[in-house]
Amino acid sequence: MPPFGRAPRTPEPPPSPSPDASAHPAGHIRLGVESVTRKPFDIAVPEGMAQHVTLLGLTGSGKTTTAERLAEGAVASGVALLVVDAKGASLRAAARRLAAASGLDYREVVPGAPGTLGYNPCAVGSRAQVADKLVSAFTHGPAGQVYRVIAMETISILVGILQGLGEPVTIRRLRRELDRTRMPGLAHRARDVTPELADDLADLAKRGGVTADAFEGMRSRLGALLHGEYGAVFDGDGPQLDLPAALASPGVTYISLPALAVSQDTALMARVLIQDLKQAAFERLRQPDTAPAMLVLDEFAALDDPAQINDLLRQAREARVSTVVSTQQLPDPRTAHALRSALLGAGVVIAHRVGPDDAEAVARVIGTQRGVQVTRTMGNDGEAARRSVRTVDRYTVDPNVMKQLATGEAVVLSIVGGRRVATLRVLPPLSADPA
Ligand SMILES: Nc1ncnc2c1ncn2[C@@H]1O[C@H](COP(=O)(O)OP(=O)(O)O)[C@@H](O)[C@H]1O
Ligand SMILES: [Mg+2]
Repeated sequence: MPPFGRAPRTPEPPPSPSPDASAHPAGHIRLGVESVTRKPFDIAVPEGMAQHVTLLGLTGSGKTTTAERLAEGAVASGVALLVVDAKGASLRAAARRLAAASGLDYREVVPGAPGTLGYNPCAVGSRAQVADKLVSAFTHGPAGQVYRVIAMETISILVGILQGLGEPVTIRRLRRELDRTRMPGLAHRARDVTPELADDLADLAKRGGVTADAFEGMRSRLGALLHGEYGAVFDGDGPQLDLPAALASPGVTYISLPALAVSQDTALMARVLIQDLKQAAFERLRQPDTAPAMLVLDEFAALDDPAQINDLLRQAREARVSTVVSTQQLPDPRTAHALRSALLGAGVVIAHRVGPDDAEAVARVIGTQRGVQVTRTMGNDGEAARRSVRTVDRYTVDPNVMKQLATGEAVVLSIVGGRRVATLRVLPPLSADPA
């Protein structure tokens, strides 16, 4: 009988571990309990998550709950937590509970929510970094390359001047200054502080044609951000989200991207945020002693930007930010090959119930085992008439098992600190509402 097959789903009650058994041991995340051996499955913090964690599973299979369990164990070990909810707000209550249960600061960016933090992506970074953050967030077709270059140059100059003048750099302010009729005035004011940038700006203002068109394009894109769902968040003059700080010290930060029907402006906000996260991760490289951090990115596919997600995974890993990414489906190898490989090559792959293609893909990564296959041919009288034995290579975990997992069950492959493969019942988060 296969150990994890569908038919023999154990009728006896699932292991209801004592509170002790479900608690996270010091320095570890207790992810769950192995289905067969009933042994706990732990992940060391932060070493076990030095490479990202891929959470895979169809809707309702248990991804978000598992993400919460991972986050809970990490926070208990003193990890700074940043949660980005790319679809709906499923982790918001969980993030809040986690902070409360551990007595940590909780901050959130939730458009429309009372008390939401403001978010100014132009607040940190050099002028080139701020320009890169904004310009990279906008998609430019191949023909748009020239606009991209002009936008980079112009925004970088404007940011440099505003920084030099000690004036706040905001999306609204940049939008206002991307105007040829205002540029000479700003250049004039800046000539003593940043003379070269002032000259460059005055010069830009004189160029017409494609340069002027590029200003217009950039203005409307920044305008789309200001008039979209996040407008109030970008314009907020209250307390602001500080991304580098959110990753630097224990605390829980939650950012909602309610991309129900990924609207243009939510997608834009998401791309700005991903750029900003990459830079915040990059900044950590300069501070090798910062506390460990975890980034949870639930349902990243809603962001529809595989190349940037892949980049973020790489950057976060270098900066020792443990990243947990969840998705219902592996991305298509034809359009997102790099991200697909990165997801399958994660330090920890957690596969909940998945569709046939993904089951096959995960089974292949887990690998095969050589075994013997015994075939008996029965005689008419029921006696074994012939017996043949041959060696065969079989998947260590049968893809069918992954297609039939119950909610909260998962096949786990961990390659960090020794290769481990297990089928688990993921423990519900300790702080979860009793359902
Ligand atoms: N490990 C688990 N133990 C108990 N219940 C779970 C577990 N994982 C998920 N559930 C329940 O199953 C439902 C769907 O889980 P969820 O994590 O939201 O799935 P997904 O994010 O994959 O859509 C929720 O009601 C949740 O409480
Ligand atoms: Mg979910």
